[in-house]
Amino acid sequence: MRQKLIMSTISSAPIGIFDSGIGGLTVAQAIKRELPNEQIVYFGDTAHLPYGDKSTAAIQSYCIKITQLLLERGCKLILIACNSASAVGYELVKEYVGKRAKVLNVIDPVVDYLRELYPGKRVGLIGTKQTVNSQVYQQKINALGRRITLHSLATPLLVPMIEEGFFKGEISEKIIEKYLNDPWLEDIKGIILGCTHYPLIKQPIQKFYGQQVEVIDSSEIMAKALKSFLGFHNLYNRNSTNSDHFMVSDFTESFEESTRLFFGEAVNLELMPLWD
Ligand code: DGL
Repeated sequence: MRQKLIMSTISSAPIGIFDSGIGGLTVAQAIKRELPNEQIVYFGDTAHLPYGDKSTAAIQSYCIKITQLLLERGCKLILIACNSASAVGYELVKEYVGKRAKVLNVIDPVVDYLRELYPGKRVGLIGTKQTVNSQVYQQKINALGRRITLHSLATPLLVPMIEEGFFKGEISEKIIEKYLNDPWLEDIKGIILGCTHYPLIKQPIQKFYGQQVEVIDSSEIMAKALKSFLGFHNLYNRNSTNSDHFMVSDFTESFEESTRLFFGEAVNLELMPLWD
């Protein structure tokens, strides 16, 4: 009886999601579509954006501070919705959280997806310098032993471009073309959007490739993986009553605009600076 009571309290707790800025909102939005009953507590570390060219030590320290905050908010699960943070912070966050909550990253579900659909094929990856240099995708894909060849390219101009609201149009298409025309990305069968900002430019990327190449959108894959994870651990929220909550470490217009764009008018945005 007591056991049952504890389970239901936990399952009704929110899901904590964090990213360096608006990127993780693509994941949060996909999760809301897949799991409308779940309550989300989102943290965008806008004060430290971009993570992509920060040192590993700096990103790890942001990850721990944000995780602590999300634990204080009673989250049942912490989802690192940033590839750069997943690449260098996941193991540390998992250790820090221990049994207090579940921890997921955005990279593993994509690697699982490749295992099923890309054995023996060549796949491209675009991401931040931190994600590409960490080689974490490469290592996880090698560990599958499925003869998947990964060609990764750092595309550092894309995040600032998206943060400034250039999702489509001539400027963004030119920058995207410049990167995707790199000979290193020739003959790929699929391209991983290895940064949570990139689903916002999925359309121009898909337009560039036509139907020849699958654009692998980690936000949708992540939402599906989360759904089966919650189901497996009996953690579905069956009686959602609370509204979603958004926090930022620095107040930026771009973030506020994006949350409204993704989640409609009723966005509850709180300024929550990270301590030094
Ligand atoms: N959202 C981050 C990621 O997925 C990229 C943005 C940044 O560099 O902070 O890697």
